[in-house]
Amino acid sequence: ELIKNYFFDEGAYDYHDGAYKHLIRPKTKTHKLIIPKVLKADKIEGNTTYYTIHAQEGETNILDGKATHTWGYNGSLLGPLIRYQSGRHYHLTLVNDLPEVTTWHWHGLNIPGPIEDGGPHAPVLPGKSREIEFDVNQPTMTAWLHPHPCPHTAEQVWKGLAAPVAVVNPLDDLPQLPHTWGVDDIPLIFQDRTFHDSQWDYQADYDMDGTLGDTALVNGTVNAEFTVTRPCLRLRVLNGANRRELRLNSDQNIVMTQIASDGGFLPHAVEMTKIMLTNAERAEILLDFSDYKKGGRIVLKADDVPILTLKVGEFTEDNRRQLPKTLKQIERDFTGSPSHQVIMEGMDDSVRINGKLYDMTRIDDRQEIGKNEIWDVSNTNDSMPGMGMIHPFHMHGTEFLVLSRNGKKPYPNEFGFKDTVAVNPGEHVKLLVKFNVPGIFMYHCHILEHEDTGMMAQIEAVDPNNPQHWNLKDLCDK
Ligand code: C2O
Ligand code: CU
Ligand code: CU
Repeated sequence: ELIKNYFFDEGAYDYHDGAYKHLIRPKTKTHKLIIPKVLKADKIEGNTTYYTIHAQEGETNILDGKATHTWGYNGSLLGPLIRYQSGRHYHLTLVNDLPEVTTWHWHGLNIPGPIEDGGPHAPVLPGKSREIEFDVNQPTMTAWLHPHPCPHTAEQVWKGLAAPVAVVNPLDDLPQLPHTWGVDDIPLIFQDRTFHDSQWDYQADYDMDGTLGDTALVNGTVNAEFTVTRPCLRLRVLNGANRRELRLNSDQNIVMTQIASDGGFLPHAVEMTKIMLTNAERAEILLDFSDYKKGGRIVLKADDVPILTLKVGEFTEDNRRQLPKTLKQIERDFTGSPSHQVIMEGMDDSVRINGKLYDMTRIDDRQEIGKNEIWDVSNTNDSMPGMGMIHPFHMHGTEFLVLSRNGKKPYPNEFGFKDTVAVNPGEHVKLLVKFNVPGIFMYHCHILEHEDTGMMAQIEAVDPNNPQHWNLKDLCDK
């Protein structure tokens, strides 16, 4: 059945202590949608692939006039697509060409923490580099890379640091899906910024409840346009905004068939005309253009503002393939009571997790690797309509299942694995969490300014056969 409404508590959309900024219609001419290049390996040796990623400053032509000073990975803004194949080993050289400390966090990759995972314990000083190595072992999915230097994550993401990541696992990949990057498989990285004489000014726009911009960008493009040349288009949508919820819809209510969420394929495709993603959430969707003629167009919108025009061109190939009815088998029959609790509370400077602010040297929780445990995650903001915020809850190092929302079924597109789940005001969300790799991992609200304020905690995923001893104090002093 076709779903025509957003899920979530409508009264909590946008709630921002009265300071919500609505998006404005772009005043620029249309610009060709920027498609991130694919990162090339430095070399491949047996089962190991070597990559180098520079964090750097640059200038980007975003508006019609003056260039904007921006940050990016291996380029001036955002970054290339970084591809991982499950089962392979990766060696990365992370180079910091910025004037300040940064880190490389692999949001969605289940690799050891805290160093490889790239949270605040893995700083790279300006002018320095760090080498990390890890195995990738997880299902096919879309992840992303962003900096995580507490408390400057929000500002560095705002300046432009973020890049798409795709994992392919031959064991669960669906080769029937469109997969020609930039042609029928494209990213839609949604962000919002305010331009001050063509520049971004984080301090000027800063808001403790999450910084909002009035102009929408897709892959760093304002007023973007893309020419569709095959009838089936796969969009990898990421809400890469610091705080804004993405409410994606279109002028013609085209059916968006969601096939994957944060952690990979859904058990079954879900058809919608509107999708809401909170910060850091991803959705892979398919759009079917076979009934459209050359010259036709569909305008994708965030709220009521156009963000990407899809112009139908000449179809060069019919890429439509029958998908299996079950995209992925997911066992989700778990009972039991929660053994972990996360209470997200507050707004502005009163945000807390379990009553505390983040402390890099404190371990807040522990869980053995390989074990399924239930987490109860709640948001104590006022649930009266228009009185509290939605907090998107994210965990590093794992992909979890959403078992329930206030005792009821999760939303129809939440039956796959996820690493970020939006929790409505007054709601309890139960998660089934299993870690497959050991280490120290963060869990936090993904409104980046809440995270930086300290709405973040950390868990040690313990391998009982190989206990590690972390001296977090030392890591922090480095
Ligand atoms: Cu997107 Cu702590 O991460
Ligand atoms: Cu993360
Ligand atoms: Cu929050």
